Amino acid sequence: MTPEAKTVDDSRVETVHLIRPTHLNGADRLFGGILMQWIDEVAGIVAKRHSMANVTTASVDNLTFLHGAYQNDMVVIKGKLTWVGSTSMEVCVDTYVESPSGERHRINNAHFMMVALDENDKPVKVPKLILRTEDEHLAWSHGEERRRIRIQRLKDKLDGI
Ligand SMILES: CC(C)(COP(=O)(O)OP(=O)(O)OC[C@H]1O[C@@H](n2cnc3c(N)ncnc32)[C@H](O)[C@@H]1OP(=O)(O)O)[C@@H](O)C(=O)NCCC(=O)NCCS
Repeated sequence: MTPEAKTVDDSRVETVHLIRPTHLNGADRLFGGILMQWIDEVAGIVAKRHSMANVTTASVDNLTFLHGAYQNDMVVIKGKLTWVGSTSMEVCVDTYVESPSGERHRINNAHFMMVALDENDKPVKVPKLILRTEDEHLAWSHGEERRRIRIQRLKDKLDGI
């Protein structure tokens, strides 16, 4: 049975990748498309863990490449829920390069809107999000503001603006 509410920690995800030659673009940096696949997968797993349902990516915003990454770099991707609606969930994904001494340097940040789907591919209700820390409350209020902007942007797109 799906619980009524879950914490942010219940669905957190962290993955690690070692950059190999097949991950590079022509300029010998990590190819952006590969990173986008990795972070979309992380967002999907976070949303799936929270909703316990199939999920799809409705939109991605604020996808910002802050720094490049190179062969043999260790890339750490962390995803967590920041906001939850009725059937949609906002997942914040941060990507870091981890140095051999363990220091992490953020290279990318993105916000994914994921929607939970039932067996007929229709949006289905998700558990509420239990906010425990000040940071989680702050992330929620930023998430609400982003949702307001996103809804307006979607309306403009549908209106062909
Ligand atoms: C995302 C999708 C399931 C929404 O379906 P829909 O029939 O428009 O459903 P609704 O209008 O009821 O919206 C469902 C929820 O998604 C949110 N949503 C829909 N489109 C959105 C968008 N572009 N950006 C952000 N949120 C969106 C709605 O705000 C709503 O949230 P809420 O229930 O928490 O209030 C549908 O548009 C879809 O299947 N898109 C394609 C997704 C896909 O294939 N992704 C992979 C790309 S390779």
